[in-house]
Amino acid sequence: MAAAAITDSAVEIAPGVHWVGALDPHLRSFDIILKTANGTSYNSYVVRGDNGVAIIDTVKENFADDFFRRLESVAEYEEITTIVLNHLEPDHSGALPELLKRAPQAKVYLSSRAQMMLKALLKPTGEKAPEYIPVTTDDEVDLGGRTLRFLHTPYLHWPDTQCTYLVEDGLLFTGDIFGCHFCDNRLFNDTVGDFRFSFEYYYAHIMRPFREYVLDAIALIEPLDIQLIAPAHGPVLRHKPRDYVHRYRELATPRLFNEARSEKTLVVFYLSAYGNTRRMAEALAAGAESLGGVRVSLYDLEGGEAEIFTDLVEEADGLAFGSPTINADAVKPIWDLLSSLTTVNIKGKLGAAFGSYGWSGEAVRLIEDRLRGLKLRDPVDGLRIKLVPDGSELEQCRLLGENLARHLTGRIEHREIDMAALA
Ligand code: FEO
Repeated sequence: MAAAAITDSAVEIAPGVHWVGALDPHLRSFDIILKTANGTSYNSYVVRGDNGVAIIDTVKENFADDFFRRLESVAEYEEITTIVLNHLEPDHSGALPELLKRAPQAKVYLSSRAQMMLKALLKPTGEKAPEYIPVTTDDEVDLGGRTLRFLHTPYLHWPDTQCTYLVEDGLLFTGDIFGCHFCDNRLFNDTVGDFRFSFEYYYAHIMRPFREYVLDAIALIEPLDIQLIAPAHGPVLRHKPRDYVHRYRELATPRLFNEARSEKTLVVFYLSAYGNTRRMAEALAAGAESLGGVRVSLYDLEGGEAEIFTDLVEEADGLAFGSPTINADAVKPIWDLLSSLTTVNIKGKLGAAFGSYGWSGEAVRLIEDRLRGLKLRDPVDGLRIKLVPDGSELEQCRLLGENLARHLTGRIEHREIDMAALA
């Protein structure tokens, strides 16, 4: 299926359904953290029914002129009855204030969380507020011969996100999910260049921390008859759209085969300048293993790089980090590993820190602060030991390991409070 490259016009993606988005080929990073080697697109769509026209998402504010020019080529502002906001991030809501001025009669359909967030995004204009209608799964809008049905798919990748299904045509408008930063004016997945890397890279950096929500969304999407997926970035997926749903299910499914499903897993990462923190790590691991029910692994970060541990961290139940203190700080490979964890969901995992030190010993406290920032549970105080751990100090490390194991397996011994002692 060949397609002419986009010029300045809207592009029909199905009868009566047009792409009216904008191309941003020169963007080189997105949200600061994401590299965009060949730019991106901001996809917006127009759906025409017998009784009105719907606009699905808008574009980044700087690209509003492109959006309005394309929109005006296929619809009059007076015809717009419906605006659907699948996602409020400014790359999709940037042209919304101006669109509301030009089509003030339109009703705005969005998730209830989006409605709460909208006030923070839209500055008061003094004009009459539009009618906002919060929607959830199976709510519908009748455009006349065409029905928009909503799917509640939060956290892909903001709390507000939803998908919208054009029932009669089998078109699914998905916001960021199934999108990618890949700018190609041939628009469709069977005519653009090879965007497989961009598709996977986008999942890994945007969606992966929310993989449980991805699987929830896939469960809603899989039963649908899907003829085309229209995401908010990158190619429109008209050729074998279901393959992309299938790929997302694969990507969001736990990656490591778990041969010990009944056991909890504790991964101990450490670095050691003189072997002291290593001895602490080994004693901690032995203590954790001694109670049974916890599978413990030791990794010396001197022998690895942060990225290769991402899958392991994502699957682990508990994480312990050991670092010596050098120049009043934890060592760089620990920070590299901790900073790489923003691409996976580690919220709620058990976390702990330990390390040997010579003078001031700040590393453990700094790591603990970071673990709390990442929303790990750290119910066990970290352990600092001055220089070479002796027998009793290694026993403390063993006890720390046992304590972590008890938290992982739910075998916490409740402290008995001596009421007499409190008197
Ligand atoms: Fe494309 Fe989350 O904005």
